[in-house]
Amino acid sequence: MELQFGYLLNNKTYEMNSSSDPLGVRDDTRDARAYFTTPIFYVNAAPHIGHLYSALLADALCRHHRLRVPSAAATRFSTGTDEHGLKIQQAAAAAGLAPSELCDRVSAQFQQLFREADISSTDFIRTTEARHRMAVQHFWGVLKARGLLYKGLYEGWYCASDECFLPEAKVTRQPGPSGDLCPVSLESGHPVSWTKEENYIFRLSQFREPLQRWLRGDPQAITPEPFHHAVLQWLEEELPDLSVSRRSSHLHWGIPVPGDDSQTIYVWLDALVNYLTVIGYPNPEFKSWWPTTSHIIGKDILKFHAIYWPALLLGAGMSPPHRIYVHSHWTVCGQKMSKSLGNVVDPRTCLDRYTVDGFRYFLLRQGVPNWDCDYYGEKVVKLLDSELAFALGGLLNRCTANRINPSGTYPAFCTTCFPSEPGLVGPTGRAQAEDYALVSAVATLPKQVADHYDNFQIYKALEAVSSCVRQTNGFVQRHAPWKLNWESPVDAPWLGTVLHVALECLRVFGTLLQPVTPSLADKLLSRLGVSATERGLGELHFLPRFYGHPCPFEGRRLGPETGVLFPRLDQSRAWLVKAHKT
Ligand code: MSP
Repeated sequence: MELQFGYLLNNKTYEMNSSSDPLGVRDDTRDARAYFTTPIFYVNAAPHIGHLYSALLADALCRHHRLRVPSAAATRFSTGTDEHGLKIQQAAAAAGLAPSELCDRVSAQFQQLFREADISSTDFIRTTEARHRMAVQHFWGVLKARGLLYKGLYEGWYCASDECFLPEAKVTRQPGPSGDLCPVSLESGHPVSWTKEENYIFRLSQFREPLQRWLRGDPQAITPEPFHHAVLQWLEEELPDLSVSRRSSHLHWGIPVPGDDSQTIYVWLDALVNYLTVIGYPNPEFKSWWPTTSHIIGKDILKFHAIYWPALLLGAGMSPPHRIYVHSHWTVCGQKMSKSLGNVVDPRTCLDRYTVDGFRYFLLRQGVPNWDCDYYGEKVVKLLDSELAFALGGLLNRCTANRINPSGTYPAFCTTCFPSEPGLVGPTGRAQAEDYALVSAVATLPKQVADHYDNFQIYKALEAVSSCVRQTNGFVQRHAPWKLNWESPVDAPWLGTVLHVALECLRVFGTLLQPVTPSLADKLLSRLGVSATERGLGELHFLPRFYGHPCPFEGRRLGPETGVLFPRLDQSRAWLVKAHKT
């Protein structure tokens, strides 16, 4: 059978052997709109810091988008829980609970964690909801109608922990609890079992070339690049058809195949469709969101999102997701986090210990998407103390403290003290070459940060902000405003200028930190007297007086003093940290 696939992306038609666009997925508002998703989380166990990390990356991307496009209606951000499948069925049985009880309990834990961690999602989906069952069954019907499902015998290994089928080459033997050799997945080390049954099978093999064309035509589809490359590499190998249902007698906790109750839909097909359910699929409203979709996922679920999901979408006549952002994993003291090793780090304890903004900052500042990162308590304290408490908090304090800034205002900028070009510095000029370097670094920071967000290198965005904070502290240190005198007509304009420049830098840092540390940034911007409508990237305009424009902040009263920006952890929580040397 010759399959016909066509889809629209970026308002361009991509040919997949046909020019058709069966669902008319066209949206002229796609530049403003954005739809971010986290993976939906398994409810077999309580959330850990790796789960929170996935959600935080999505949250930061989404919040950064909102800074660019302020209209709240332009952004959607979904998260949720993956509640069906053998893994959950078995976990519930082991806990002596009905699957629905386990799902309710653990889903509530994820919801509470995300509320506490300030995850700004607009939607939370549970795959046990009726709206989702309807969407999955509809999606199944579309695949069936397009001739992409057939019944056949599946025989091979299945890993319930990873909910995936494995070829013999991906299975090894390890001594089990009784000492006997047991088959396990080579990649995850989880036990596998032999399965032989009649299932519905999806014609995945027919999508190898369409997938290759999609990825070659859109080099940023999977970011960072090494993951894009890895998927293309996988597509060089044979792509067998995929079993997409299980016998209901074996797997009852799931969505039945429409018209065939003896089969339950494969949990990954069920789970992936969540991204469509959230935006209203199959109602046509989903079409205005789908082309703007960015999935944020961990590297362990890349194949499901970058091969199975785009193939299923193409099969159902839709475009692949706009972006797939991939991150690596957190280890703890050099070891993989696992219940059996007893080293699972509870994120709620961390939020409590390091504050919500502190822990958010740590995970996003230290988490590098391309490589695994190691977690240990001392590292958190060191980073937060040096970058948030000392560097940023210290800078704010230096510019707003009553003894340096007794009027409590945003002082005036003096253009003769700090002319727009170093060559123009006359006898009253005080600015030095390093000061021009600072202005230029902070002026380009928002663009640099935006580029890092686009490349999913949020840690680099934070590194760039942190480096500018250091530079600004150097600027203040160099000119030592505490040695200048407000009463002196010679000192006063320069003293005002030094504080004005430093406050302007702080305004930029506060604005750019909003996606990562929302409360801390709010505190900082409120202290500077920046109102809620002045906090977007469109309103940022750094140091306008330097560029010959009026500055709306000049002469404005600072906001009320509300205490230290970020508390030092090594003093206030030393005893806790000691107890937490994991
Ligand atoms: N339910 C599937 C996803 C279905 S999406 C349609 C799943 N769930 S999960 O709970 O196991 O993982 C959810 C996310 O957490 C994944 O992105 C995964 O990579 C991430 N993490 C799980 N352990 C992790 C670490 N140790 N470190 C960082 N993230 C990790 O997979």
